[in-house]
Amino acid sequence: MPKIVAIHSYRGGTGKSNLTANLATGMARWGYRVGIIDTDIQSPGIHVLFGLDEETTGRSLNDYLWGRCSIVEVAHDITAVLGQSVSDRSQLFLIPSSMNAGEIARFCARATTWGC
Ligand SMILES: Nc1ncnc2c1ncn2[C@@H]1O[C@H](COP(=O)(O)OP(=O)(O)OP(=O)(O)O)[C@@H](O)[C@H]1O
Ligand SMILES: [Mg+2]
Repeated sequence: MPKIVAIHSYRGGTGKSNLTANLATGMARWGYRVGIIDTDIQSPGIHVLFGLDEETTGRSLNDYLWGRCSIVEVAHDITAVLGQSVSDRSQLFLIPSSMNAGEIARFCARATTWGC
């Protein structure tokens, strides 16, 4: 049965991204199929730990949330970062948040109207 692990802190810079990246890669290496969703829309950062940038990621969580595409289209297969000696079942995906300043500002402006 799928499990969701939410990693949150009220303070910035406490290690959320590093903990998430290590936990996800560790579980994937054990043979689990793991997906990381970067919901830090205001200040995304976990993509950096996997060596991704705006050009390599393309579509992001923002595109899905605005209804521009399906969730499958924003899930980037980054299983290769696990290296060679992993289980055949190991899979790792990253759904990044947009790094585009205009996209971030647009989302934050809308979130304000939602009372966030
Ligand atoms: N376990 C750790 N031990 C020492 N330093 C750490 C550890 N985890 C993270 N750091 C360092 O702390 C800093 C912040 O880590 P990280 O980016 O993971 O935090 P964050 O909570 O995601 O930050 P933000 O709120 O900005 O997204 C980084 O410089 C990182 O290298
Ligand atoms: Mg972070």
